[in-house]
Amino acid sequence: MNKPVAAPLAGRLITVEGIEGVGKSTNLAFVAAELQRAGHEVVLTREPGGTPLGERIRELLLHPEGEIVPMAELLLMFAARAAHLEQVILPALRSGRWVVCDRFTDASHAYQGGGRGIPVPAIQMLDQLVTGGLRPDLSLLLDVPLEVSAERQAGRGDRDRFEREASPFFSRVRARYLELAQAEPERIRVIDAARPLPEVQATIRLALQDILVQ
Ligand SMILES: Nc1ncnc2c1ncn2[C@@H]1O[C@H](COP(=O)(O)OP(=O)(O)OP(=O)(O)O)[C@@H](O)[C@H]1O
Ligand SMILES: [Mg+2]
Repeated sequence: MNKPVAAPLAGRLITVEGIEGVGKSTNLAFVAAELQRAGHEVVLTREPGGTPLGERIRELLLHPEGEIVPMAELLLMFAARAAHLEQVILPALRSGRWVVCDRFTDASHAYQGGGRGIPVPAIQMLDQLVTGGLRPDLSLLLDVPLEVSAERQAGRGDRDRFEREASPFFSRVRARYLELAQAEPERIRVIDAARPLPEVQATIRLALQDILVQ
């Protein structure tokens, strides 16, 4: 079990969140470049994944065939997160590097909580057990209407297990993400990602300024 994170860590953890096709990967690279420009050493990573075990769990989770019951899905997400934290995220943060991660615990609340209907206390319990309640220093929630998400995914090849879900699922995921942001407006910045990319990135740059001057 990971110990609760007591001392402030030297580096910072920034996460990028949102439903499918909102521009997470595109903007993850932008965030990394901005941080590097400001002189930080950056580790780019993703969830589920980020370690050899995590990437294998990712394959299980995204494989389109076969049923995975919601609780098993949640536990697999946290199993991957346990490895990711201990082997990648915490060592990087302790050594002063900045970690930029494509999805983190907020995604468990949005997808397995909002999307699949797992009660919040079960997710909080696992969060406490696995991360000690570690929160990112900044989370960028890229928000777009469902139609925009669908448009941006159009033309992609085989759809994974999540991408095969129908729109009510994503509507619940998006709504839960927005609720999380409302509850923690300082940490989770909602970015209107339906706008042209240069505008989205100008907003992201502003959000990063706040954390870069801290
Ligand atoms: N603001 C934008 N305006 C128009 N197109 C965009 C914008 N942001 C990203 N895109 C395009 O949308 C598509 C999806 O972007 P990207 O792969 O970054 O999303 P993602 O959130 O990482 O998706 P996934 O959830 O599948 O990993 C890409 O073709 C990208 O170029
Ligand atoms: Mg992506």
